[in-house]
Amino acid sequence: MQKTDFLVIGSGIAGLTYALKVAQYYPDKKVLVMTKAAADETNTKYAQGGVAVVNDMENDSFEKHIEDTLIAGDGLCNRNVVEIVVKEGPDRVRELIEWGARFDKEKDGDYKLGKEGGHSEFRIIHHKDITGWEMERALLDAVAKQTNIEIVKHCFVIDIITQHHLGYLITKATPDIECYGVYVLNSKNNQVEKILAKVTLLATGGNGQVYRTTTNPSIATGDGVAMVYRAKGRIENMEFIQFHPTALYEPGMKGQAFLITEAVRGDGGILRNKNGEAFMERYDARKDLAPRDIVARAIDSEMKRTGTEHVWLDCRHFTKEKFTEHFPNIYEKCLSVGIDIAKDMIPVAPAAHYSCGGIKTDEWGRSSIKNLFACGECSSTGLHGANRLASNSLLEAMVFAHRCYTDAVNRTGSSSFNENIPDWNAKGTSEPKEMILITQSLKEIQQVMSDYVGIVRNDVRLQRALRRLDLLWEETEQLYESTSLSLPLLELRNLITVGYLVVKGAAFRKESRGLHFNTDYPNKSELVQNIVL
Ligand code: FAD
Ligand code: SIN
Repeated sequence: MQKTDFLVIGSGIAGLTYALKVAQYYPDKKVLVMTKAAADETNTKYAQGGVAVVNDMENDSFEKHIEDTLIAGDGLCNRNVVEIVVKEGPDRVRELIEWGARFDKEKDGDYKLGKEGGHSEFRIIHHKDITGWEMERALLDAVAKQTNIEIVKHCFVIDIITQHHLGYLITKATPDIECYGVYVLNSKNNQVEKILAKVTLLATGGNGQVYRTTTNPSIATGDGVAMVYRAKGRIENMEFIQFHPTALYEPGMKGQAFLITEAVRGDGGILRNKNGEAFMERYDARKDLAPRDIVARAIDSEMKRTGTEHVWLDCRHFTKEKFTEHFPNIYEKCLSVGIDIAKDMIPVAPAAHYSCGGIKTDEWGRSSIKNLFACGECSSTGLHGANRLASNSLLEAMVFAHRCYTDAVNRTGSSSFNENIPDWNAKGTSEPKEMILITQSLKEIQQVMSDYVGIVRNDVRLQRALRRLDLLWEETEQLYESTSLSLPLLELRNLITVGYLVVKGAAFRKESRGLHFNTDYPNKSELVQNIVL
């Protein structure tokens, strides 16, 4: 058993930013960061386009960024939170730069600014087309210098510990559910250990792996959301899954797909259908730079109409110099699969990309469970509403990491460790006879979610999905009760919970708004509501 004042689950931008701030505030206290994979294997590392932040006050303004965010969010953003993130963003970016992150500059020293869908101005700072890699690098370097932060790798957090583990009956209606720490599967010895903490931050990232094709790496299995749901905390707006319009299409694609950043369209890339038509002008006056929900739906519709598995992104009018200056990584990737962007168009298709909903928090990142904060993609702060504006995610993670830290550092004095937490009980379990059952169930859930709960939904499909998920849940719970724990089993269990929450949210929402489009209710409802599960 370990004890720590500050426990952080996740080593992406949200977890590391918070850990650095807390560790600098309390140089004499240890901050423990747990991560289930290598430290840098995060959604953060794969971010391409950059960070949306207002820094050119001559041509841009907070008001414009706020307005763009609200328009993309389609009526469901919390305006107060939007203002907080947009206005506090520049200070957080400055801090990241002080920690060593490098963003591309013009010859005169100003930051180069990119543009993506839904933005009325060029405001996206970036490091070529590998912005997330650079941010993660800078954060890990800064953490390495901070001697009171310990990163424990390859440890899978199974559940947060609450009164439930002390034998109390906990329901959604129980007031003051409290987090005392977590149970963790240590991959070195395959033992479950308990870690007691005064304050815990969940920064567990997204859940793209619940779909067959996603831009997210394999760690994105929605663990934090599933843990909070099991602990009877509040989860909201899970139906708003953002599909990125342009993942690189490769025949038979499944698992993690390579992203072609929206910044390529910001620099002039044009979407074309099978017949070479620049079809976006038929769908939206903003054409290729309409918000992501509109572009992804338009592509989906063109693919269905023309019977193809992808559309094309045309960059043939770029010079090689211009393209490689901003997008060297994409250029190399395309070449590696035989696409020369000067001559060939890039085949692209939508892929699951970002979870706009998640663990419901207030404007300080506090979840509905006491002493439990949530930050980054696993949280639902109210910023994104029904559709996230491109490149607002890294910004949100930084702003909320700061806000969580501001509140968390004042909490440890009054709270103490709960010494009565029992050890994990593994009695009655044995080695699984067939791991293949887990792999097959994973394929099934990804299939069900992709076929029935994708970009376009309807009630019959959602009911089908729910029935299939019920069965998968029942079978997986039997495995969970009877076999010794493994990472694939725990992730599968969490993915089924996440899938269930997405379907439930989608089924409750009797309208089409933002990323949720249901052909049985094609219009927006008068009632503007968050769906809390
Ligand atoms: P992550 O960076 O995903 O980190 C999650 C961490 O939690 C990992 O360390 C993981 O190991 C750990 N973890 C999860 N579950 C457990 C568990 N059970 N036990 C222990 N550890 C656990 N956003 C932008 O704003 N701009 C962009 O340009 C941009 N481009 C993107 C491109 C791609 C390809 C992708 C996938 C996303 C992009 N996004 C972008 C979104 C953005 O990158 C993510 O939303 C953001 O990085 C999430 O950060 P995070 O810290 O919340 O989670
Ligand atoms: C991209 O670079 O297109 C992704 C940006 C984002 O997800 O915000």
